[in-house]
Amino acid sequence: MLVLGISGSLRRDSYNRRLLAAAAELLPPAVEFVRWSGLAPIPPYNADIDVASAPATVDELRAALARADALLIATPEYNHSIPGQLKNALDWASRPFPDNALRAKPVAVFGASTSLFGAVWAQAEVRKVLSTSGAGVIDEELAVASAHEAFAADGSLADPTLRAGLVGILEQLLDAAGVPLARAA
Ligand code: FNR
Repeated sequence: MLVLGISGSLRRDSYNRRLLAAAAELLPPAVEFVRWSGLAPIPPYNADIDVASAPATVDELRAALARADALLIATPEYNHSIPGQLKNALDWASRPFPDNALRAKPVAVFGASTSLFGAVWAQAEVRKVLSTSGAGVIDEELAVASAHEAFAADGSLADPTLRAGLVGILEQLLDAAGVPLARAA
């Protein structure tokens, strides 16, 4: 079973990338985790170039999504919304509609921000975009607030309640992908 992780941040020291890494550490050994790192070169969505031979970076994104059994998306929040480049990539991923690579794909969304709110609005909007695209979105959020203080030295979430919340979301995701955590262990 393959879980694809997408961070909505392009920042080198991104807390959302750290959150994905913390989640990956909690996955059972039988689950392969791959972080998609192709966000930066995705071009602005343009229906004129969304044709049989779409840009190579977009083909790669769609192929990576198609290969994955489930997705994990960690999003920052910019001005109470989705960072533009993540929204742009999701727009590409949503086409062709309805037979896109997101269709019925189990997806869990969480987010980290340095504010006290943990990117809750961005997470809600990512869920909305994914649902509109036909993905199977887990109806659960995990808000990592004050992200600059949220991680222990080993990369795990320092707060046990947040850690338990992350495990709970991963359980739901693996369940939705048909591989319950107990069976994948
Ligand atoms: C932010 N940040 C932010 N945080 C938040 O909780 N709500 C918000 O509306 C915003 N708005 C916002 C706009 C812009 C343009 C920037 C650059 C930043 C803070 C942001 O969430 C914080 O920098 C995170 O650390 C970004 O995530 P990464 O890059 O660490 O993964």
